[in-house]
Amino acid sequence: MNKRFYITTAIDYVNGQPHIGHAYEKIIADVIARSRRSLGQEVFFLTGLDEHGQKVQQAAQAEQKNPQDYCDALAADWRAFAQKLELTNDDFIRTTEPRHKEFVQAALAQLHAAGHFYKARYTGYYSTREETFLTEKDRRPDGTFDPAYGEVVELQEENYYFKLQAHQQWLIDYIGANPSFIAPDYRRNEVLGFLNSQTLEDLCISRPAARLNWGIPLPFDPNFVNYVWFDALVNYISAAAAHGDPTVCAAIGCAPGPQSPPLALWPADIHVIGKDIIKFHAVYWPIMLKAMGLPLPKQVLAHGWWQKDGARISKTTGNTIDPIAVINEWGLDAFRFYVLRELDIGPDGNWTDAGFKARYSAELANGLGNLVNRSLSMLKRYRQGVVPARHDELAADAAKAADETRALLKQNQLQSALQSIWGLVNRANQYVDQTAPFKLAKDPAQALRLDEVLYNLAEACRVLAVLLQPFIPGTAARIYAQLGLSGTPDKLDAAAWGGLTAGQTIGEPAPLFPRKDV
Ligand code: MSP
Repeated sequence: MNKRFYITTAIDYVNGQPHIGHAYEKIIADVIARSRRSLGQEVFFLTGLDEHGQKVQQAAQAEQKNPQDYCDALAADWRAFAQKLELTNDDFIRTTEPRHKEFVQAALAQLHAAGHFYKARYTGYYSTREETFLTEKDRRPDGTFDPAYGEVVELQEENYYFKLQAHQQWLIDYIGANPSFIAPDYRRNEVLGFLNSQTLEDLCISRPAARLNWGIPLPFDPNFVNYVWFDALVNYISAAAAHGDPTVCAAIGCAPGPQSPPLALWPADIHVIGKDIIKFHAVYWPIMLKAMGLPLPKQVLAHGWWQKDGARISKTTGNTIDPIAVINEWGLDAFRFYVLRELDIGPDGNWTDAGFKARYSAELANGLGNLVNRSLSMLKRYRQGVVPARHDELAADAAKAADETRALLKQNQLQSALQSIWGLVNRANQYVDQTAPFKLAKDPAQALRLDEVLYNLAEACRVLAVLLQPFIPGTAARIYAQLGLSGTPDKLDAAAWGGLTAGQTIGEPAPLFPRKDV
């Protein structure tokens, strides 16, 4: 059984509507998943929904629905959203599914039996919105708590705690010895800075069922439900167990599901997450895994946050971007291209409508779209759409773009890969201007030269389709179809120069990115 390249996203809170931040993260993971398949690897891509906890319970109550019905209705919207983005996820996990709940209980029972938990009484502050306990250290200089915590109440209650402190030095050493565990580098440094300067407080992993019952009951004490973050993080291995992953099943003692054949997934290769949830993924999650006797994921890849017009995205102030509206107006690939080209994985980004339109117009309509359209239209007009004999004038430029893209995709450098691919787009557009095929066509003595130019252009378009497939798969497929090629350009090896055969007939050229008056 070959281990698959296993990539996951954060699972989104089911309450609320998908926004650009959710879309961005899922698209990053999708492009990496498609890239790896294109490079010949077997991939498993997981995404899904985080459905337990107080926020969901309260939102359901506000709509006078039972929480499960509430989640089921919203889950349909989120699944449709994943389809709208044309994600190639292999599974979609919901934390209210029996396969997940049973697994979480098995993991909790095992950790409890091994002595990782203890029960204690807590007196202090609690943020309902963040479902988290606060201490005096969390107060701001003026004595108040950050408004992001919402209402903060004083609480006194018993709960179960997970012993973290004993693992602190191990984690520091692990991160030090595995520099690619947290990416980008500056996020690793932040985590190390935190771990080296503060003593880890034990993690409260329960909530009294009397206060919050929308959660997974602790198998060893039904008066409590599991803390939503513990439950949520476990999705990455409960999904693996559901597919019969031997490593997870051996560690947790779960029976593999009914599917056949079982898949080897764990450890995950990449957890794609936002910068706000690094502590959960790079501190709590590794310790949970260690306690369960499981290897750690190979990488936690943290992306930045989108703002709009320089301000935080917020439903309350109306400062939002509706990805579905953008996709309906401009097309999915324009949206996928913009978020990936505009923002590298790591720093924060700023969406402006003007910036979006400028990239659409310059890089998609006038860049790639114009290249493909004029290349194929000229081939149609001057050679009845029949591919001339092979010629290699742009072969070196294409090979450069392909080699760079291959190397960059292996390092998940998506923005740089797009820059390199556009190196070829620009070179080919420049080649049209330099060789002026429309002038060559007027001179019968230049017929051979025109053949050469037309071959180079059509073949450059084909190579571009292959390189672009992970990023803008719909456009890549359309370029292939317009070239009269069957199949999908989904293997990077096909980027080798010379794939178009003399004598074959292309399909119908049509604009890929219609120009819009903006
Ligand atoms: N449910 C938790 C994650 C559990 S993972 C075991 C959660 N959900 S969330 O819906 O609030 O966020 C989901 C993902 O979207 C997170 O990775 C978060 O960083 C990302 N984003 C939310 N808003 C964002 C932006 N404005 N910009 C970019 N990504 C952002 O946290």
